Amino acid sequence: MSHNTIAINQQQQPLDHLESVWLFGYGSLIYKADFPYLQRHPAVIHGWQRRFWQGSHDHRGTPEAPGRVATLIEVPEARCAGMAYEVTPDVFAHLDHREKNGYLRFFTTFAWLDEPATVEGLVYVAGPDNAAYLGPASEAEIATQIANSAGPSGPNSEYLLKLADALRALGEHDEHVFTIEAELKKLLQQG
Ligand code: SIN
Repeated sequence: MSHNTIAINQQQQPLDHLESVWLFGYGSLIYKADFPYLQRHPAVIHGWQRRFWQGSHDHRGTPEAPGRVATLIEVPEARCAGMAYEVTPDVFAHLDHREKNGYLRFFTTFAWLDEPATVEGLVYVAGPDNAAYLGPASEAEIATQIANSAGPSGPNSEYLLKLADALRALGEHDEHVFTIEAELKKLLQQG
């Protein structure tokens, strides 16, 4: 699959007939809401785990030196906290462009973090069959790649550090993210 997913997302899943759509964000979509939304709510998705296994050619790296950004992998007993946004369907023109580097959107169920309510909404996931996928590596290796990558949206380290701060603000502990953060901070201190 090509790593530009704009056409696939728009063809597979037209949204214009809907009045509004919920979106679950678990990476930069938690801390960088550069789109209009009707409301937002801290949320959690079950059966998925956040992993820095997706390459970024267009935001936090380049085609020659991709950065590493978050995707979700299916793990039956796992949970992943994030932020849900209710948006109008036209906002997906922007979102599909922003998430074009390998992410496909699909409908799933997520729950509010602080109340027993669930909603149906979209989530963008970059799976192993996209051309930008990098796959597993140790947290130390991921931190080294992040420390050395930058792209049009800024340093890759900023993506990781802002996500870690946003998770702390949600009261969430994510072992994978916080281990990479600790390794990254050591590398950044070494200069
Ligand atoms: C997301 O945040 O939900 C998707 C990955 C990203 O844009 O960082």
